[in-house]
Amino acid sequence: MQGTKADLMRGLWYVAAPGTALKPGKMLAKTLLNEPVLICRKSDGGVFALRDACPHRGIPLRYGSFDGTTVQCCYHGWRFGEGGGCTEIPSLAPGQRMDISKINTGDYPCVERQGVIWIFFGERGETPSGPPPAFPHFDKAPDAFVSMPFDCSADHAAFGLMDPTHAAFVHTSWWFKKDAATLKAKEKHFAPSELGWSMVRHQVPGRNIAYRPLGRKVETQISYMLPGLRIEEIAGETHQVVSVTAITPLTESTTEVIQLIWWSLPWMRPFKPLLRHLARVFIDQDRAVVQKQKEGLEHNPRLMLIPDADTQAKWWMRMKDEWVAHRRDDREFRNPIRETVLRWRS
Ligand code: FES
Ligand SMILES: [Fe+2]
Repeated sequence: MQGTKADLMRGLWYVAAPGTALKPGKMLAKTLLNEPVLICRKSDGGVFALRDACPHRGIPLRYGSFDGTTVQCCYHGWRFGEGGGCTEIPSLAPGQRMDISKINTGDYPCVERQGVIWIFFGERGETPSGPPPAFPHFDKAPDAFVSMPFDCSADHAAFGLMDPTHAAFVHTSWWFKKDAATLKAKEKHFAPSELGWSMVRHQVPGRNIAYRPLGRKVETQISYMLPGLRIEEIAGETHQVVSVTAITPLTESTTEVIQLIWWSLPWMRPFKPLLRHLARVFIDQDRAVVQKQKEGLEHNPRLMLIPDADTQAKWWMRMKDEWVAHRRDDREFRNPIRETVLRWRS
């Protein structure tokens, strides 16, 4: 098991940012998977991503300016467009010959889908074999999002994300609190799914009034997927809610947690600020606990994963190992998860 650092997986699409975080003509600079990335939204709305380092003298391009088409470096004014190619070197005198088309910052495959900006991180020159994953039900941008940096590796962020038994101890706000003294026995059915596993789709108890606005026969399914996605869908006969949590490694030891929510209930609009606030409080509780955990991990203790509460954490490590192995051995990815029932008290 990992200490404070996690191995970073290549050959996958990562959630880079919610689309609404980037307005036309603006740039967003981030470190993602240890790499300096500059995401740009063109005046026409399209997005592209460059390596955020000028090939002339290495200064980050984010200190320059963006005119909606090209980024101009702040040092000597070289310009770079979508694809990373150099389009102008202001210092070139008339008649001076230089093939500037050979100069490139390096770029990343970058697409926006369902209002989410994805970036593909592969090995040098690798291109994605398909588009980023699609989320169910909605063809629109998320109705709300919250993102927060976590001072922990993607592995520990993932463990927290798929940990069914910390809620009673960590999420102790009055509006969520479960009494740790009255934990209930749970039994959940899991099955392998694309690049991960799912808590198999099941109907929620009809007596739970929280689900009434979605109509009759409300079903829910939670899926976990590489490189760090938790996708929860709750769908009734009339309405649906989809909640996606993405964990994106910033470095080997820091992670961004991005929470995205879609809903089809128009009357929820006025409650958006309240929902965002509650989501922020909830995620901050997870952030605060891994911050404390970090103090312990600095001393490199031996760690434990117990059945069945931590079985999904074990699956996460197995999925990662298989991902690395199938790329190394150049073979098909074989999902290591088998259908099973897990039991715990929460
Ligand atoms: S360092 Fe960027 S143009 Fe010179
Ligand atoms: Fe949590």
